[in-house]
Amino acid sequence: MKTMLCLVMACGVGTALLAQDPQPAELKFSWADESEPTTTELARSGERLIDRIGGSLMMEVERMLGTKGLEAAVPELHLKYLNPPRPVEGRPRVTEIRRTSFRVRERRNAPDAADLAALELIRASLNSGEQPPKVLVQKVERPRAATEWRVYRPISVGPNCLLCHGPVESLQPAVRNALERYYPEDKATEYSAYDWRGVIRVSYELPEKP
Ligand code: HEC
Repeated sequence: MKTMLCLVMACGVGTALLAQDPQPAELKFSWADESEPTTTELARSGERLIDRIGGSLMMEVERMLGTKGLEAAVPELHLKYLNPPRPVEGRPRVTEIRRTSFRVRERRNAPDAADLAALELIRASLNSGEQPPKVLVQKVERPRAATEWRVYRPISVGPNCLLCHGPVESLQPAVRNALERYYPEDKATEYSAYDWRGVIRVSYELPEKP
């Protein structure tokens, strides 16, 4: 669904520790300034890329269900072989593609503090009955590391997704068993069709200034 134009927020700087990092690095993040051309460029290219990734995610689910079957699809999903696009000289380079949510199945998808800020902003707009921003652009800084620019885009649950993300009692026993085996800490069930599921995020590094 096409919604309103990309809305990029400008607000304060947050500081937090990276929950998943074995050697926690200080992480500083802020919403990108929407009046900056860089922000517009990242929002545009992030949105295009995330739309493609979202399309691949849905197509892969359909293909897996049609060929492998539901149970066999569990350990193979999602997009395990997806790599960032090849870098183009002089253009922002995609360094990472991730999916995250308040409720994750795979621990490695758990949100860090900067992801949480994006999730919270989207949840707040949904709770107040507004359309969430189409994309969010965020600047993340760590000591002695290149600045990371993140683009987030909310994704929702389609009817197909409920086969593995719906209420536990509604899952086929084979799926429930496979989820218990591979994902004993699974929190990504109990969704209904068209619920907000989480975000797809792409991270960029800007080219060096000449
Ligand atoms: C056959 C089962 C199956 C179906 C159907 C399925 N998923 Fe998943 N989903 C998984 C598994 C397994 C994981 C954990 C592995 C991973 O991250 O890819 C997962 C993880 C995710 C994640 C990452 C966050 C997390 O919980 O770890 C998102 C987002 C997601 N699914 C969205 C969807 C959407 C949207 C659909 C429908 C288009 C869908 N899924 C359909 C099995 C499924």
